[in-house]
Amino acid sequence: MVSPDNFQLPEQLSTGAAEVDELYMFIYWFSAIFTAGIVAVMIYCIVKFRRRPGVKAEPVGHNLVMELVWTFGPVVFIAALFHLGFKVYVHNAVPAEGAMEIRARGRQWLWEFEYPTGMRSTNELRLPLGRPVKFIISSDDVLHSFYVPGARLKRDAVPGMYNNISFTPNRLGDMQVFCAEYCGTSHSGMLATIKVVTPEEFDKFLKEGETFDGPPEAWGEKIYSQQACKTCHSVDGSKMPGPTWKGLWGKTETMADGSTVKVDENYVHESILKPQAKITAGFTTTQMPPFTLNDKQIDAVIAYMKTLK
Ligand code: CUA
Repeated sequence: MVSPDNFQLPEQLSTGAAEVDELYMFIYWFSAIFTAGIVAVMIYCIVKFRRRPGVKAEPVGHNLVMELVWTFGPVVFIAALFHLGFKVYVHNAVPAEGAMEIRARGRQWLWEFEYPTGMRSTNELRLPLGRPVKFIISSDDVLHSFYVPGARLKRDAVPGMYNNISFTPNRLGDMQVFCAEYCGTSHSGMLATIKVVTPEEFDKFLKEGETFDGPPEAWGEKIYSQQACKTCHSVDGSKMPGPTWKGLWGKTETMADGSTVKVDENYVHESILKPQAKITAGFTTTQMPPFTLNDKQIDAVIAYMKTLK
């Protein structure tokens, strides 16, 4: 179908999206036309058979043809609709031959992705244009839902269970990922971006990993928002689930066990990789998951923290 992008639906960013939209638009117009038709007949009957002086209502008898039509008509229609819906569902549920597998893990409150090479990233995933991808979705804590409107797909991320969805990106650019299951305080911040790049760019990225041109503090700031540090740590002193980063660097913090720790390179390094090792007094122990940043990335985060006086 040509240009089915329309006012009701977001952009179609996967090869399967058009099929879903066609079915949706079919049901939509079918419902709209029938609603208009039924209302028209209703209004006609209200006027035509209204109460008039001197006209007595006659009881209506049995009409076999009408009974059969309004019983079997809808049955046939519903069966056909089920068939169409099931076809589209199956088409979207079965991954294409040779699909690249990506692990998607939901966690309070971020999405972690793992590429086939073992490389991981948080809240940002790169995918090659035109290559089928199969997502293996799971959760590390509570119920989340992996929702990609551009691909018209959504699947729950359930603790202790693997779900999957599969699609083929058909356009360069960004696709938004949402969490579509209420999962706690920062549920609405549990967003990720899929960046669709050319296959050449993607292969290069897989080989070289994340790089950054520019000062380390700028990279640190990027990591802060990309890796979802910002979901729990403010940089302006405001209260969030984790300690604010404003003025944190160099400070002496009191831990939950009463000991004190100076916020330096070693402390930050440890707190990113093993968040449970030292817990600041007044914060809960279970909230922060471990992050898989390499030393270069951690150095960049530290450089950024130093700027937050
Ligand atoms: Cu995760 Cu809502």
